[in-house]
Amino acid sequence: MISITLVTGNKRKLAEVAAIMEPYGIKVTMAKAVKFEAQGEIDFVSSLAAQLASMELLAPVVVDDSGLYVDSLNGFPGPYSSYAFDKLGNKGLLKLMDGVPDRKAVFRCVVTYADVITDEIKSFEGQITGYIRSDIGKEDGFGFDPIFSPFGPGGKAFSEMDVAQKNEISHRGIAFRKLAVFLLNKIAQG
Ligand code: IMP
Repeated sequence: MISITLVTGNKRKLAEVAAIMEPYGIKVTMAKAVKFEAQGEIDFVSSLAAQLASMELLAPVVVDDSGLYVDSLNGFPGPYSSYAFDKLGNKGLLKLMDGVPDRKAVFRCVVTYADVITDEIKSFEGQITGYIRSDIGKEDGFGFDPIFSPFGPGGKAFSEMDVAQKNEISHRGIAFRKLAVFLLNKIAQG
């Protein structure tokens, strides 16, 4: 069985990633490394954080950096999503959107595989478009899950989906399935 080390302190994220990778026969373990919170776009942050974690742990690692980009806020919070969530929470973001008719938003995830020993760095992206709800949905999942609904039938918030349903369409599901294909090809090529 292939195994990858995901650098995160977020157990919900770990559960999502483990479920995405399981059908590919890829086991996911969690490791803590110093998370280097660089400022910049998520592809830059993801790549840099993965390289630094791989240097620190002297092993191949995987880092996921994600963000919520709200159209009417010019893409805010985007790469500052973690900070914005800590400071504003879902209520605060909804307040910023009070009376705003354009509620379109995109969740983006960039996952980076880095191995400093073989000098290999590869990033994969996934995104999903939806809208910011006018109210807070079921309090479940993590982060902005209760206020984001993907476009499509049902109008469910991410927090109202089970892990399998969310993974099927989510930014993280899309990005990690690309990583899984890359890892399986890598193994096949020896
Ligand atoms: P991180 O870069 O993965 O730590 O994510 C940054 C922030 O974006 C997190 O603190 C969450 O608030 C938010 N976020 C990222 N992915 C998701 C998701 O799948 N659902 C809800 N919020 C998310």
